[in-house]
Amino acid sequence: MAFVGGFALGSKTSFTGQNVRTRSSNVGVLKSRVAPVMMAHGLDKSQIPLNLFRPNAPYEATVLYNNKIVGEDAPGDTRHLVFQHDGNVPYLEGQSIGVIPPGVDAKGKPQRVRLYSIASTALGDFGDSKTVSLCVKRLVYNDEDGNEVKGVCSNHICDLAPGDKVKISGPVGTAMLMPADPDATIIMLGTGTGIAPFRGFIRRAFAEDNPDYKFNGLMWLFLGVPTSSSLLYQEEFEEFAHKRPDNFKVDWCISREQTDKDGNKMYIQNRMSEYAEQIYELFKKPNTYVYMCGLKGMEPGIDDCMASLFEADGLDWKEYRRQMKKEKRWEVETY
Ligand SMILES: Cc1cc2nc3c(=O)[nH]c(=O)nc-3n(C[C@H](O)[C@H](O)[C@H](O)COP(=O)(O)OP(=O)(O)OC[C@H]3O[C@@H](n4cnc5c(N)ncnc54)[C@H](O)[C@@H]3O)c2cc1C
Ligand SMILES: NC(=O)c1ccc[n+]([C@@H]2O[C@H](COP(=O)([O-])OP(=O)(O)OC[C@H]3O[C@@H](n4cnc5c(N)ncnc54)[C@H](OP(=O)(O)O)[C@@H]3O)[C@@H](O)[C@H]2O)c1
Repeated sequence: MAFVGGFALGSKTSFTGQNVRTRSSNVGVLKSRVAPVMMAHGLDKSQIPLNLFRPNAPYEATVLYNNKIVGEDAPGDTRHLVFQHDGNVPYLEGQSIGVIPPGVDAKGKPQRVRLYSIASTALGDFGDSKTVSLCVKRLVYNDEDGNEVKGVCSNHICDLAPGDKVKISGPVGTAMLMPADPDATIIMLGTGTGIAPFRGFIRRAFAEDNPDYKFNGLMWLFLGVPTSSSLLYQEEFEEFAHKRPDNFKVDWCISREQTDKDGNKMYIQNRMSEYAEQIYELFKKPNTYVYMCGLKGMEPGIDDCMASLFEADGLDWKEYRRQMKKEKRWEVETY
C-alpha cells in the first residue's frame, strides 16, 4: 500500500506539475486552504455547496488516481480514487457526490446515480481544491442461482483508469458536516468504506494547516473491518495518532481476527464497551459529536452498547439520543 503520510499516491502516479502541496514531514501538512473558508455545522444552507450538478446534467471529471488499498488476501477490493474537477465541484468534508455509470439498466433507461461519501477534505488530496477523492468497494455477490453479480456503479468506478472521464453530480448531504467548534470531541464510528467521511475530518484536523480550523479537541475513530489486510488508511491515521496523542485516537476492530473478553467477534460496539466509562462521560459532554457511517447492521449493536451505559446510571438512552440528534450531535449515515 502506498499511503505515505496519509497520501494515497506514492510513486505509482505521475502528478507532475501539481505543485500544490508542501510537506515538512511524512504526515504531510498542507500549508494553506485554498477553498473559501466555510465552517460546517450551524452554517446557513445557502453557504453549503449543494446539488451544483444534477444527475441529468453531470460534471465530467477526469480520473487522476485509482489504487487498491487493501491487501490481496482481503475479502473484497476497496480502492482510493481521486477525480479532477478543476474547482467546479466545491464541497465540504462529510458530503457525498453522485456517480452516474454509463449505459442503460434492464429496462433500457439510463443507469441511475449512486452516492459515494467524499473521502478527502474540501482542499482535496492535492491541496488545490481541484480534486475529490472516494473510497469505494467493488460489489460482487452471488444471486439465488449461484451466478456472480457485479454491482453496476462500484465496478464502473473500480475499473476506471487515470485519464478516464467520470460523470459526477452533487455535492449532496448536510448531516455529516463537521462541527465548527475546534475544541469539540468527535467520535467516529465506521465500518469498511464508511471510513470515507472520517478521512476528510481527520485530514482537515491533522494534515492541513487551516487558518480557520486549529483543531485542539479530541477525535476518536473506531473502525470495523474484517481482517487486518482490510484496514483502511492505517499508516496515515497511526501517524496522526502518534504525533497528536492528546487529540487523536484510533481503535481498529478486526472482526475476523479479534474477539472481545467473552469471545465474541470484535465489532465496533464491543470495542467501545471496553472504554465504557470514558465513552459514557464523553457522550454526556455538550460538545461531543458522534457520527456513524457504513453498514446499517451496526446500528442496533451500538444502540445496545450505549443503552447499557446510560441505563446503569438510571438514564434513558433513547431519550438522550433524541436530544443529541436535535442538537446535531448524533448523525448516522448507514446503508
Ligand atoms: C450516502 C451514501 C454514501 C455512500 N458511500 C459509499 C462509499 O463511500 N463507498 C462505497 O463503496 N459505497 C458507498 N455507498 C454505497 C453506494 O452508493 C452503492 O450502493 C454501492 O457502490 C453499490 O452500488 P452498485 O451500483 O455497485 O450496485 P448495484 O448494481 O446498484 O447493486 C446493488 C444491489 O444489489 C443487491 N445486493 C447487494 N449485495 C447483495 C448480496 N450480498 N446479495 C444479494 N443481493 C445483493 C441489492 O439489491 C442492492 O440494492 C454509499 C451509499 C449512500 C446512500
Ligand atoms: N454513507 C453511507 O451510507 C455509506 C458509506 C460508505 C459505505 N457504505 C456501505 O457500508 C457498507 C460497508 O461495507 P464494506 O464492505 O466496505 O465493509 P467491510 O469491509 O465488509 O467491513 C464491515 C465490517 O463491519 C462488520 N460488521 C458486520 N455486521 C456488523 C454489525 N452488526 N455490527 C458491527 N459490525 C458489523 C463486518 O464484520 P464481519 O463481516 O466479519 O461480520 C466487518 O468487519 C457497504 O454496504 C457500503 O455500501 C455506506
